[in-house]
Amino acid sequence: MKSIVVLISGSGSNLQAILDACSAGFIPGQVKAVISNKAAAFGLKRAETAGVAAQVLSHKGYDNREDYDAALVQLIDSHQPDLVVLAGFMRILTPAFVAHYQGRLLNIHPSLLPKYQGLNTHQRAIEAGDSEHGCSVHFVTAELDGGPVVLQAKVPIFPEDDAELVAARVHEQEHRIYPLVVRWFCQQRLQQSADQALLDGQVLSEYGYA
Ligand code: GAR
Repeated sequence: MKSIVVLISGSGSNLQAILDACSAGFIPGQVKAVISNKAAAFGLKRAETAGVAAQVLSHKGYDNREDYDAALVQLIDSHQPDLVVLAGFMRILTPAFVAHYQGRLLNIHPSLLPKYQGLNTHQRAIEAGDSEHGCSVHFVTAELDGGPVVLQAKVPIFPEDDAELVAARVHEQEHRIYPLVVRWFCQQRLQQSADQALLDGQVLSEYGYA
């Protein structure tokens, strides 16, 4: 049984999908703690409801990213996790943080990486006239939204869509693929080797498992 710490900043619907998958036995792991940089994050309530430690470490009051990330590492490591899951944790991480968790740090990003790194991905995909969009689960490296992709899911964009509709469609897929990737990790089928992700020893393509 692997130990997982989940970092959030908001609603925590991906956290919920992972909590549900753990309690259903789909993920052979246990969420030991949920940590938010925002006290108002609804995901903290989800953690409490699931009987999981819910902790706030506000970034306010820290002079710089390095100091905040060092405090975050201490808090995370007090739970001795095998895996750290970023689930809507809306902060840029320092290279030291990323290096500390190399190979056991996953993120979900709401685009078909390498397209649309950064923010406002749904609006940007609509404005570009894309007919296809989606989400990606990837290992985190020092390059923002640039680590090796493990799994993507695609959704259509229809001409009359707005960003909210597209976001809802993407979220549905996020809740499907993130638990699956966490399952693979906890089953020890998934590894990171430098800039590559490996599933069952096979190097995955730039777009992850297909
Ligand atoms: C998700 O759509 C996730 O892909 C995105 O934040 C949302 C969190 O939703 N993450 C990023 O944009 C990271 N750059 P949730 O709090 O309901 O899981």
